[in-house]
Amino acid sequence: MPTSTETATPALHLAYIRAQFPSLAQTVEGHPATFLDGPGGTQVSQRVIDAISNYLGRDNANTGGAYATSRHTDAMIAEARSAMADFLHCAADEVAFGPNMTTLTYAMSRAIGRDLGPGDEILVTRLDHDANVSPWLALEEKGVTIRWAEIHEENCTLDLDNLAGKINNRTKLVAVGYASNAVGTINPVKAIVRLAHAAGALAYIDAVHYGPHGLIDVAALDCDFLVCSTYKFFGPHMGVLFGKRAHLQRLRPYKVRPLTDAVPNRWEWGTLNHECIAGITECVEYFADLGRRKTSISRKERERWSAQVQVGTRRAAIVAAFEAIHTYEHGLMERLIAGLSQIPTLKLYGISDPARFDERCPTLALRVVNQTADQTPLALATKLGDRGFFTWDGNYYALNLTERLDVEKSGGFLRIGLVHYNTMEEVDRLLVAFKEIVGK
Ligand SMILES: Cc1ncc(COP(=O)(O)O)c(C=O)c1O
Repeated sequence: MPTSTETATPALHLAYIRAQFPSLAQTVEGHPATFLDGPGGTQVSQRVIDAISNYLGRDNANTGGAYATSRHTDAMIAEARSAMADFLHCAADEVAFGPNMTTLTYAMSRAIGRDLGPGDEILVTRLDHDANVSPWLALEEKGVTIRWAEIHEENCTLDLDNLAGKINNRTKLVAVGYASNAVGTINPVKAIVRLAHAAGALAYIDAVHYGPHGLIDVAALDCDFLVCSTYKFFGPHMGVLFGKRAHLQRLRPYKVRPLTDAVPNRWEWGTLNHECIAGITECVEYFADLGRRKTSISRKERERWSAQVQVGTRRAAIVAAFEAIHTYEHGLMERLIAGLSQIPTLKLYGISDPARFDERCPTLALRVVNQTADQTPLALATKLGDRGFFTWDGNYYALNLTERLDVEKSGGFLRIGLVHYNTMEEVDRLLVAFKEIVGK
């Protein structure tokens, strides 16, 4: 039976895609540069680079001025907001920009925490990146109790019974990641939002890792907040916050007095990175163009992602793009996991059962079993780096997970992160390199 990537119509046109990203053509000491570091930050397409550079070369100005370049800047930001609204499936005034997800989340935790105190509870998870943990832990200073949802250690999935058992009528907010940046697990976020709402709590979703891999639909999720970072999905270094309009209006940000009280601007402090915002529209258009290159969206696709997509819109094109990305990445992941599982010295963390691959991203955490000093995650990443493979090692701030799995003191994991610009040929070369480095 052909795999999903060997069917007559490939899900994605790789030659077209790779030509968009100038950095992919680099070599490292004679080796092709192989970017497996997407979870730390993805490469950027030429159209995003051009948008940033054109903005700096022509319109570089502050907002709200009575002259041409300032007006262009206002219009450019409005366009980027509406592009992100299509990307997330919300209204443009529910989108706020910030330097990164961590900063936005600290600002939201401070604002939400204003009304919380002893007797209130917030639920965080053992699987999350610390950026969706520490900003909530900071509220312990105000007497808020932080509760922890545990994981199934054998496959690094959330223990939903444990999570549900820790939500009660004192719970004010549930903070959960859409996908793990360490082991790739995709969490059943919609069900968790429902659990939170049933108890009268807010749901705060960290979609930073999920962003490049799957369609985000805040309308379908019904989450209260969702944060992501465009540099993880082929755009510039920016953070993006979705908040339901009613919350953005009701909550009180810490802000300077002259800043407007209108939403979403009251959640954007100081002068933003305008040149990077200029890259955001092109970042979203890149996805939309991938979708437009598909002839149509099938009924199945539409039902799978959302009931509310209108054919012909940018949102519909984004939906189509993610369907193609999902299929293509799935094929890469199957091949990589099948190959790695042939190397007995390697242990893969997270979901390894192909029947459950829809519950994971192609982000793999590995270790050598009974590792020696030259087989630590850092040693492996270095040896791979010397061969042109860019991987990561350590905890990547998923600290609670590396501590729970007791790998923190011995170097954490080696992380391989595939995205849709990676190829089968890269996967095959990586497997050969692994066999050289750690043996068959
Ligand atoms: C899952 C996840 N959440 C949050 C963050 C923090 O994002 P930012 O760098 O935009 O603050 C990261 C960064 O790696 C991440 O992977």
